[in-house]
Amino acid sequence: MDITKVTIYCFTGTGNTLLVAQEMLRTFAEKGLETRLFRMERADPARVPLDGLLGLAFPVAGQTTFPLVWRFARALPSAQGTPIFMVDTMMAFSGGVVGPLRRVVEKKGYRPIGAQEIVMPNNFSPLKIDEEKNRIKITRGLAKAQRYAQDLLDGRARWGHVPVLPDLLYAILGSPFLWRISGAIGQRFVLEQDKCSRCGLCEELCPLGNISLDPYPQFGPHCQLCQRCIAFCPTEAIHLPWLKHERYRAVRAAEILELP
Ligand SMILES: Cc1cc2nc3c(=O)[nH]c(=O)nc-3n(C[C@H](O)[C@H](O)[C@H](O)COP(=O)(O)O)c2cc1C
Repeated sequence: MDITKVTIYCFTGTGNTLLVAQEMLRTFAEKGLETRLFRMERADPARVPLDGLLGLAFPVAGQTTFPLVWRFARALPSAQGTPIFMVDTMMAFSGGVVGPLRRVVEKKGYRPIGAQEIVMPNNFSPLKIDEEKNRIKITRGLAKAQRYAQDLLDGRARWGHVPVLPDLLYAILGSPFLWRISGAIGQRFVLEQDKCSRCGLCEELCPLGNISLDPYPQFGPHCQLCQRCIAFCPTEAIHLPWLKHERYRAVRAAEILELP
């Protein structure tokens, strides 16, 4: 493929997707391409570069992906054949992402050249974390990411669209009404005040600006359950409002915060 630049816009809750995006960029860089990585929640979609290869990387959530990812994709500017690929990470299965996203970008004039879904460890309130199993999943996931990057360069990648079911799932599970439930759950996050040091990391990490210190963290109505605040709280003071769960994270908080 005659491309010299690749830019990935990545949303990651707890680091799985960031690892995958970084692995792909390493592969591209080894082939001599200029690479860039941006945090989706901070980027202005209207200003994405249209003169190279564009990538969208994000986690699966609720058989679709987070509304903030859809918002970014829908706000991309019109293009004239800019090649684009997607990669998502998930614990097992995603229904309503690949085909529906293809339609969104195609309508805007992008040329969809590849979609890949990669199994990584579950980050959603795991009851028990098996470090060894997670390590194996990550190793396999990153190997798949590497192969996928190579396939994109060799023109072997594909971005298909299975009819009917994914569109149905997208229509139902992508509905803003359903995602109000996540907002309501977020407002019920449990904060153990005696553990909280009021360090402000949760406020800084929240991709939706939904947490404010007043004087302890207050959770607003816009939570999408990405798990960042729970996963990275240094004193483990934040919990989901139900059962006792462990905390999963694949990177350090600083690795997310240092990304532009
Ligand atoms: C709210 C939420 C919903 C999820 N829903 C799904 C799902 O429908 N299917 C799936 O396979 N994984 C699901 N997962 C698991 C994540 O997609 C998976 O762990 C992903 O790799 C996390 O990426 P991240 O660390 O970049 O945030 C969900 C995770 C969260 C937090």
